[in-house]
Amino acid sequence: MAEAFNDLTLSADREVRYAEVAAEIASVLDGEPNLTARMATVASMLAASFDHYFWTGFYVVDPDKPDELVVGPYQGTLGCLRIAFGRGVCGAAAATGKTQLVQDVHAFPGHIACDSRSRSEVVVPVFGPDGVLIAVFDVDSDQPAAFDETDARWLERILARVFSG
Ligand code: SME
Repeated sequence: MAEAFNDLTLSADREVRYAEVAAEIASVLDGEPNLTARMATVASMLAASFDHYFWTGFYVVDPDKPDELVVGPYQGTLGCLRIAFGRGVCGAAAATGKTQLVQDVHAFPGHIACDSRSRSEVVVPVFGPDGVLIAVFDVDSDQPAAFDETDARWLERILARVFSG
């Protein structure tokens, strides 16, 4: 019972913080068209907002190899440089165009362990204004099952507002 109550409080706190940081990001980026600046700002502001974020950043679709992601702006320990579409959690998000919410990365087929401390993650596809995939946004935690639907839905909302508008 206490645990269920704690989960609800946690989820409500997260909702509030996501709503605040969404507004802060929109305000900071107002009038800034550069894509790298927009990605770096989103990664920095989200990473600074939540304790359960361990690695936070973008893998961008490589214009020279359109079936490959290359690391973009991020906050955290050294990330893998390249991920093929279909490989690991980021590759699955890129290949399907669907958000991936993974409670236990060790149980995910083909998970890429850039940092062995990563235990759970959420990866959200990022689309440009024309609806074409431009990147995926990857957040890893060093705790198992650290992300829930609140994270997934808010990240989708924030990323759509910043990159698809
Ligand atoms: N966890 C990702 C790889 C990228 S990093 O962890 C920074 C994956 O399996 O797609």
